[in-house]
Amino acid sequence: MNYLSLGIQIIIMLLFIVFAVFFLVQFYNIVFRGYAPFISSKKKIIKKIIEKLDLKEDGVIYELGCGSAGFLRAAREKFPKARLVGFEYSFLPYVIAQIQNSLSKSKIIVRKENIFKISLNEADVLYCYLNILTMKRLEDKIKAEGKPGLKIISYQFPLPNIKAGEILEDGKDKVYFYSL
Ligand SMILES: C[S@@+](CC[C@H](N)C(=O)[O-])C[C@H]1O[C@@H](n2cnc3c(N)ncnc32)[C@H](O)[C@@H]1O
Repeated sequence: MNYLSLGIQIIIMLLFIVFAVFFLVQFYNIVFRGYAPFISSKKKIIKKIIEKLDLKEDGVIYELGCGSAGFLRAAREKFPKARLVGFEYSFLPYVIAQIQNSLSKSKIIVRKENIFKISLNEADVLYCYLNILTMKRLEDKIKAEGKPGLKIISYQFPLPNIKAGEILEDGKDKVYFYSL
């Protein structure tokens, strides 16, 4: 066996270990902690949301559980001066988001943090694609920390006790729009 094929085998093995650890951690967090899995929002839905979205020039958008931060990269084109921040607790999506941001030279900030350990009080817009349980927990946090006028946009999963001002429907997809 030459060094090249040994090197390739080691790289494949390392990649396998990284993915295995990622799936085990995801499995644990989804099953035992009730966290949302890493699934990206559909691009056509993001496009529709951003078309509707209004934001002051220097506004702040947070993507909570940003995955690869596709929403923020799309928002950057419409709001070049806004502060766009994604929060993602899981290592692999966080790394993917950082790589995609550097490739697209996007000035988006992605922080590796649990959304329940950050403060929401600077945000003008929150974008979420999470799950029922997380939205329930998030609702209390939004009520406690969200500033008046805060807009919340949630893909597929509504806030349980706040009435949506608008619901965008596209086949099986639903997007809930709220304003505090
Ligand atoms: C359904 S994906 C959505 C990804 C992205 N927002 C999108 O719309 O394409 C949910 C993401 O939230 C992350 N997540 C779930 N719970 C979280 C938490 N408590 N703190 C930070 N990230 C979280 C997951 O790791 C996953 O990447």
